[in-house]
Amino acid sequence: MIDLTTTYLGLTLKNPFVASSSPLTDKLDKVQQMEEAGVAAIVMPSLFEEQIISEGWKLHNDLMRGAESFAEALTYLPDTGRYSIGPEKYLEKLSKTKQAVSIPVLGSLNGITTGGWIDYAKKIEDAGADALEINLYDVVNNPELTSSELENTHVTLVRDIRSQVKIPIAVKLSPFYTSLPNFTLHLAEAGADGLVLFNRFYQPDFDLDELEVVPNLVLSSSNELRLPLRWIAILYGRIPVDFGLTSGVHTATDVIKAVMAGACATMVTSELLLHGVNRISEILSDVRSWMEEREYRSIMQMKGSMSQMSVGEPTAFERANYMRVLSSY
Ligand SMILES: Cc1cc2nc3c(=O)[nH]c(=O)nc-3n(C[C@H](O)[C@H](O)[C@H](O)COP(=O)(O)O)c2cc1C
Repeated sequence: MIDLTTTYLGLTLKNPFVASSSPLTDKLDKVQQMEEAGVAAIVMPSLFEEQIISEGWKLHNDLMRGAESFAEALTYLPDTGRYSIGPEKYLEKLSKTKQAVSIPVLGSLNGITTGGWIDYAKKIEDAGADALEINLYDVVNNPELTSSELENTHVTLVRDIRSQVKIPIAVKLSPFYTSLPNFTLHLAEAGADGLVLFNRFYQPDFDLDELEVVPNLVLSSSNELRLPLRWIAILYGRIPVDFGLTSGVHTATDVIKAVMAGACATMVTSELLLHGVNRISEILSDVRSWMEEREYRSIMQMKGSMSQMSVGEPTAFERANYMRVLSSY
């Protein structure tokens, strides 16, 4: 009997398959279908700092008005049509979702500055969330801002949110930090129980006929797995947190690789948007078959088995591999 159980942020998950924030986790019927297909937990779409501060959508509307000249506004803020909700409705939806399913439901807050709005972390907890994901989606374009100032702001935000809630907190990050191990250590010290690596940036494109900046949401492929895979393998056992892997999980082998790197939770969005939520049961069945064939008995047995935990000199190991790859071409 194969045991797919894992633990993430102190929660027991029946398997590592988590549906990350997306329009799918915004809809109750889809969440129920995903539960039937075997998903172990879901993360609600993010509630944005701007949504809370702007009281309704005033700020959002102002930004959207100049959207052609403000490309990031298009990609940064959710489409009102898709996520047509303010903070109170978000909490209501979270609470309804929580009541409708028996799997853990994680709330998600997207913000980058500390301030009055973060009491929404407590409201998300009160609405029934089993844990909170802090989504640090931030495109830095200020040349005066140093990396340490930026990191301190984010660490302070996590510390302040930690002081608001008792539920576990995971921080969803981009890969664009100078010293990821040091930064993630500070996040752990500020109270993060988990790290979700890595958020994807939605890079706008140029339309050369219209001379316009156009939002371009390209879904991921398995190729994108390698960046979070590598970093979780490096950080596992060194930073005292649970790891969730997001970006590029499409198949059973992706799930298995993520677990072997050290991930407790393997998070999926693009695959489900592309091929439907029934992919969850197919992938889980493929994971079981793969484990059976190779005589693995449990996910916990595989967890971190390909991380760099056993490597005495990780920096030398990385450089040696780099030289080996270049010379092998
Ligand atoms: C349409 C769409 C909406 C998303 N909304 C959110 C969001 O609100 N908050 C968040 O943290 N991530 C959001 N994401 C990012 C996903 O949760 C996920 O991290 C990312 O798509 C990478 O995983 P994948 O390779 O499985 O797609 C969104 C992704 C898509 C495609």
